[in-house]
Amino acid sequence: MPTLKRDVVIVGAGPSGLTAATRLAQAGVSVAVLEARDRVGGRTWTDCVDGASLEIGGQWVSPDQTALFALLDELGLQTFSRHREGESVYIDPSGVRTRYTGEIFPVGDNTRREMERVIEMLDKLTAEIGPEEPWAHPLARELDTISFQGWLAQQTDDEEARNNIGLFVAGGMLTKPAHAFSALQAVLMAASAGSFSNLVDEDFILDKRVIGGMQQVSIRMADRLGDDVFLNAPVRTIQWGEEGVVVFADGDLRVEADQLVLAVPPTLYSRISYDPPLPRRQHQMHQHQSFGLVIKVHAVYETPFWRADGLSGTGFSAAELVQEVYDNTNHADARGTLVGFVSDEKADAVFALSAEERKRKILASIARFLGPQATEPVVYYESDWGAEEWTRGAYAASFDLGGLHRYGRDQRTPVGPIHFSCSDIAAEGYQHVDGAVRMGQRTAEAILGRR
Ligand code: FDA
Repeated sequence: MPTLKRDVVIVGAGPSGLTAATRLAQAGVSVAVLEARDRVGGRTWTDCVDGASLEIGGQWVSPDQTALFALLDELGLQTFSRHREGESVYIDPSGVRTRYTGEIFPVGDNTRREMERVIEMLDKLTAEIGPEEPWAHPLARELDTISFQGWLAQQTDDEEARNNIGLFVAGGMLTKPAHAFSALQAVLMAASAGSFSNLVDEDFILDKRVIGGMQQVSIRMADRLGDDVFLNAPVRTIQWGEEGVVVFADGDLRVEADQLVLAVPPTLYSRISYDPPLPRRQHQMHQHQSFGLVIKVHAVYETPFWRADGLSGTGFSAAELVQEVYDNTNHADARGTLVGFVSDEKADAVFALSAEERKRKILASIARFLGPQATEPVVYYESDWGAEEWTRGAYAASFDLGGLHRYGRDQRTPVGPIHFSCSDIAAEGYQHVDGAVRMGQRTAEAILGRR
């Protein structure tokens, strides 16, 4: 078996691993990046489906994501704004559809007051706790041992307000039911985006897209790294010790290096064998992190028909199968594209149906927001990351109830020569491409500091 010798070996060619590799290479450190798939980009993947260019994975960039913006500049990539002109649509729990403008849903006065009050509370908590070390805050244990659903029930007895606020974090971000993660985890999600108000403002959080697609970020970094990126090379075994690592991957690859960056989500760490085994703390911690589940639905039409009706394409409803829908038309494209999301338990339910029946139900749900033309797309595609062997869910991994304050402080701590880097353990930009980039940079700095 031929052996490669490098200063640092990186496992995973997603945005985090490639950022780490790029920064290390720029500092004169030799690298090899081993990627399981036949492409780079990980959870970012811009593909052509039936003649339509689709963002199968991560795509949006928000104004606070400055690490990603700087990288886009460095790589010569431009952004464009999401189409948002026109009225949005809200469907209430009884199925009543209302067109509206502005940030807050057109709900009754009491529900509106309650939503504003709870959002203000969450903004305060988020500002106080911050994204870097939420586990270190005096309220960490209290907030981490109650589910977000339970915490919301303590704050307000207005069910519509609770469900709408739950929608932003549960269906909208962590893609787990609000009973399955803690209030502290919800605060981290908001803190990583700057504030809870940012998280609930779609014009902020879903602001820009990359012309040519988000996967270009990884493709351009990989192009610069050239022959040091190895595809179809799932890493199976990592031998590690004081002197460094020896890595074994498919394709008859053996790499010796001083240090290693494990740039895969924590849910996949246990797909690799470690010799000697990782410490007890890692074994335990990684069992408390899991992926959410969401179906990202793409529907392409000959024209963006909703715009002619004065609609922006944006729709929300905690009661609908498709809880959120947006205009996702590509840059300079005459056709119109919608993207919708079916999250967690609703995704379970429709995955139990035939593909035809699932499509029918999903399009019928989008039609309730934007009109009957929505049922007749020329291209229809469901991103199904739960079925992807090298991801196994979407969008990202988070701790179960109580896990964040119990284990969070150790998630970024290296084990010997092994460093951990991915968006799922980021502070700012947590669960986003920006967080993946920040973690890549942070890990590269830590490695350079050791040399
Ligand atoms: P990522 O998972 O991208 O990369 C890890 C790589 O490791 C993969 O290429 C994988 O194949 C590889 N790998 C795994 N095991 C391996 C092994 N044993 N050996 C070798 N390689 C291995 N973000 C955002 O900013 N805006 C958005 O709009 C969205 N929307 C969104 C939608 C959907 C449907 C998804 C799935 C995700 C998003 N995201 C997002 C999240 C964003 O895509 C995600 O946070 C980053 O891609 C994470 O980058 P990482 O490099 O950390 O992991």
